[in-house]
Amino acid sequence: MSGRDPHVAAAPFPARLVAPGASAAAFRAALPVADLPLGGLRRVSFDDLDVLLAHTTGGLVAVEDRCPHMAVPLSVGRLEGCIVYCPLHNGAFDLASGDPHQMPSVGGLNPDGSPSAPWSPSGVPVKADVQGPKFEARRLTRVRRFRYFPVRVVDGAIEVAIPA
Ligand code: FES
Repeated sequence: MSGRDPHVAAAPFPARLVAPGASAAAFRAALPVADLPLGGLRRVSFDDLDVLLAHTTGGLVAVEDRCPHMAVPLSVGRLEGCIVYCPLHNGAFDLASGDPHQMPSVGGLNPDGSPSAPWSPSGVPVKADVQGPKFEARRLTRVRRFRYFPVRVVDGAIEVAIPA
């Protein structure tokens, strides 16, 4: 029998955070569901769009494979539950809500524009920042919320709605 797979399903996401054009887009095959076990992260590219597929405890999620901070690929990070950890600045982001879970250690702006101070893990003193263009770039970088691509599972394959 063919059709939707009832065992692995798309995770719900906030409707306001759907990627532009994705709610009316055609679904395209991404990869077999067997290739993305629970806790897995994979990059799948559609033309020049790199998509992060994540198998969270809430279900399957597809977002751009770019950290909401400075755009490095989250597919080389790690996933715990619904939280994806960026390998670059200790940022952590909630794939269920689209919001930051832990702001990057270099600080910057929260999604609402409010400032977030730099921090260090494990009691290590915060690095003294040298004023200048790099300092300003870090201070003024706003962490985005994720934008989501609808996902479904059909005949054992993960499909993602990708805008043309
Ligand atoms: S690039 Fe991901 S936390 Fe900075």
